[in-house]
Amino acid sequence: MALRSAINDNTVMIAASAPCLPFGVVDPIREVGKIAQEHGINLHVDGSLGGVQLPYYRMLGHDVPEFDFSVPGVTSMSTELHKFGFAPPGVSVILHRTEEQFKFQQWELKEWKMGTYRNRNLLGTHAGAPTAAAWAIMRFLGTEGFMRAAGRQWNAMHRIFDGVAAMQDLYIVGKPDVCTFAIGARKGDITVVMDALRAKGWFPSPRIQTDPSAIHITLSPMHEDHVDEFLADLQVASKASLA
Ligand SMILES: Cc1ncc(COP(=O)(O)O)c(C=O)c1O
Repeated sequence: MALRSAINDNTVMIAASAPCLPFGVVDPIREVGKIAQEHGINLHVDGSLGGVQLPYYRMLGHDVPEFDFSVPGVTSMSTELHKFGFAPPGVSVILHRTEEQFKFQQWELKEWKMGTYRNRNLLGTHAGAPTAAAWAIMRFLGTEGFMRAAGRQWNAMHRIFDGVAAMQDLYIVGKPDVCTFAIGARKGDITVVMDALRAKGWFPSPRIQTDPSAIHITLSPMHEDHVDEFLADLQVASKASLA
């Protein structure tokens, strides 16, 4: 595995994604956890996009990859509540496996003339409004609300996967675990597909992905109501790219 050969005496941590942004694929966290343990180093799981999706998919009974502290070797995790937590930017969460480890996140300066300066993050003073908004949204939606939202995202994603599978000229890149994924073209020019979708009022991510060339889509719960329209427009866009 390329990861093993990248580790040397200076390595203190491995970072894995749950999932990566381009393809929505969760890294093989259990295997990576074993490697971290073999080397006695930390494993951070970046759950930026999966942290507030994967647990709810699981609660809904869907099959999701292992990604959290249940995996031996995972020492910390993070997620962005300003993504699928529906909060305004910037409110992120970092979780440590142990309190002992959490202490290393804090830093303090005791020699300061005004007393001890202690902080738990890099930013120092920052706005509390996004945190308050995230709290209010969590109280408002609750577990049921987040399950309902994630269920809609799961359904939309899988209906799109089925729809794309039925189109011979397009394909979903890899096997996404979370509703952020890429659509590539077997034939035709994906930039033409992108332009045709835009002309119909859809807003995929603004950049064309490379390697492979693909358009990037992120779904929110409301997209469940528009899957059929989207697939119809995607089909037309795909034909336009072949013309
Ligand atoms: C996998 C992953 N990690 C981290 C980030 C950084 O997120 P932010 O800049 O919103 O904190 C992103 C952003 O999309 C992401 O996709």
